[in-house]
Amino acid sequence: MQRFGFDFGTTNSSLAWARADGQITLCPIDLPALNPQVLRSLLYFSIEQRGFVVGHRAISEYLAEDMQGRMMQSIKTFLADDSFEQTWVYDRYFTLEDLIAVVFRHVRAAIATMTSDDVALVIGRPAVFTDRRDKEETAQNRLRRAAQLANFFDIEFQYEPIAAGLSYEASLTQPETALIADFGGGTSDFTVMRLGTCRTLLPAASQRRAEPPKGHGPNLRRPQARREDILATGGVQVAGDSFSARIMEEKLTPYFGAGTTYRSIQGQDLTFPSQLLAKLARWHHVAFLRGRETRELLRRLRSTCSDPHAVAALEALVEGNYAFYLFQAIEQAKSELSAAEEAVLRFHRDVIDIEEPITRREFEQMIAPDLERIWQCMDTVLRKAHLGSEDIDAVFLTGGTAQMPIIRRLFAAEFGADKLKSQDYLTSVAVGLGLTALRQPVQL
Ligand SMILES: Nc1ncnc2c1ncn2[C@@H]1O[C@H](COP(=O)(O)OP(=O)(O)OP(=O)(O)O)[C@@H](O)[C@H]1O
Ligand SMILES: [Mg+2]
Repeated sequence: MQRFGFDFGTTNSSLAWARADGQITLCPIDLPALNPQVLRSLLYFSIEQRGFVVGHRAISEYLAEDMQGRMMQSIKTFLADDSFEQTWVYDRYFTLEDLIAVVFRHVRAAIATMTSDDVALVIGRPAVFTDRRDKEETAQNRLRRAAQLANFFDIEFQYEPIAAGLSYEASLTQPETALIADFGGGTSDFTVMRLGTCRTLLPAASQRRAEPPKGHGPNLRRPQARREDILATGGVQVAGDSFSARIMEEKLTPYFGAGTTYRSIQGQDLTFPSQLLAKLARWHHVAFLRGRETRELLRRLRSTCSDPHAVAALEALVEGNYAFYLFQAIEQAKSELSAAEEAVLRFHRDVIDIEEPITRREFEQMIAPDLERIWQCMDTVLRKAHLGSEDIDAVFLTGGTAQMPIIRRLFAAEFGADKLKSQDYLTSVAVGLGLTALRQPVQL
């Protein structure tokens, strides 16, 4: 039996192999990618191949096929949404489980190149899939079903922030009470954990390391489940995707009609229809504008709008299937703003000409309401643990979004800059899921 941990992320996924001797190895699961250990959680239905491809290949085939096939992203966010039952792709219906199973099959094939033994899989799950408690079980069952469709049968789940905590713990030689904060694409998750309790500490200080255990993890025996060490967990569906939506709403919708007026059939001047602009906030919703009625509405708007070029740009965005690339440009700008005070968001396709400067300060102001919700969630978790910020020895920040300076600033101000710790932002959860595979998942 070989044990693996799989972090199926909203944006990125990673796989860790837990060897019997306690070593954790991150597996290459996207060979053509710049970092083969991180698979973009993207699905593309290739017209040529009449099937789905994932990760880096999804992007290259999408381009090669002139963006005419179907690209999907952030499918994890639909797990708790029972209105998403099935979607029509090319010539058949796919349930959400069918779609997620494509990713799991890819992972199963990658594992098959490494071992022919039976496989046990620990799958990560967010602290909460949704704010509707009654949907939690449904969401996890859908994830399980997707894995089963890909021939994983020995399946356990572990909370993603707890997994991140275990990865951080592997670097410790002394006990700590830590706040673990995982800022991903779909959710921001927290846990307060006691780490390095006597049975989990590294045997020797010489093994202390700042980086996660890549090839030479600590020699862990199989300790008991850690329920008593988990003081509280919680999460909120506000993270990187919400920040991208803010950039779209606040900076880019004017290129597609926001702020303009049009003349109604009755001769009144009306503001541009907000229901059209609302669809732009999440790129995968832009496809909903492809219906016949919307097309006709856009054609009418073009002839009466105070800015016909903006309507033409919106038509081009929808008809050309460019939303995916526009959001790539937004992601790029977000990353640049983590390293510099200012970035220019550029996007030129067809009649769409975007050249939009954005400062870090502006961006931080835009996302202030989101940060407020995230902070409230963190505060609730801390209170559930009956702890104040002074009781926290370390704050472990992980997830792609944790690279944003404002996140670090907020936590430094509350807990002290010297308490902030991090490892590889995109793979610490997978490493912790691998460590879980050697132990037992925590049942909360
Ligand atoms: N340098 C950066 N600065 C700001 N944001 C970034 C940076 N790099 C990546 N991101 C954002 O991080 C998010 C992806 O992070 P991550 O891979 O941890 O998420 P995930 O694990 O797939 O999502 P989740 O855990 O919510 O399911 C994306 O929203 C991406 O835009
Ligand atoms: Mg994640």
